[in-house]
Amino acid sequence: MNAKRTVITIDGHAGCGKTSISKLLAERMGYAYLSSGGLYRALGYLALKTETSRTKLPALLALITQHKIELSAGEDLVGFIVIDNERVDAGLHTPEVSEATSQVAVYPEVRAALKQAQRTAFASHNLVAEGRDMGTVVFPDADLKFFISVSEEVRVERRLKQLKEKQPGISASELKSLEDKMKIEIRERDVRDSSRETAPTKAADDAHIVDNSTQTLTQVVDFMYHLALSRGLPRGKV
Ligand code: DC
Repeated sequence: MNAKRTVITIDGHAGCGKTSISKLLAERMGYAYLSSGGLYRALGYLALKTETSRTKLPALLALITQHKIELSAGEDLVGFIVIDNERVDAGLHTPEVSEATSQVAVYPEVRAALKQAQRTAFASHNLVAEGRDMGTVVFPDADLKFFISVSEEVRVERRLKQLKEKQPGISASELKSLEDKMKIEIRERDVRDSSRETAPTKAADDAHIVDNSTQTLTQVVDFMYHLALSRGLPRGKV
């Protein structure tokens, strides 16, 4: 890692709101934005596309070497994923890819293979890095660390709201069955992400815990931004 750059890490469970928070904080600080989950999702996506079993570690590692998984960004320095020269955005965020990703991310060998790409992402820029183990494993020496906490009820509520916005005609009974399914999925992913032996989702000892259940997005980002400035962190991309 470039010794001079400043790194802010933001970790938290699925659906805690860390992506919106991280992007806004990066924009406000003038930093580049890294979604480490994008790299794991690229592998989950490839595993599904090539029908590679998520339990066959050598085959999963081969996908990483046989395919070109790149992290790229435009002038705004908001990172996105390019697989075999093709930008993939929404395709990485289907429920099937989320599930496959959570399964492939448990392997220490997979994590090791993707670690360097995270550490060197946008190496000449100050960085907001978002994920599960940014503050604990990938950037243990980060200048400022946050862990976003949010209740399960709020996570489910927010996802249902997004769903209603996307599909205004959805019936109450469909919503109810989706709500039940979401609860199970969220619990399963949380348990898998937090109980795995390597780099489980958890707050670094020196992380600030930020509750995103009761405050608005603006309040949360304001708090983090002002804390960063009060700690003397510089603004700007370099
Ligand atoms: O943050 P996300 O929802 O895009 O993450 C997708 C999956 O990748 C999630 O199951 C956890 C995993 N992941 C991880 O294990 N470590 C990271 N640093 C980021 C994501």
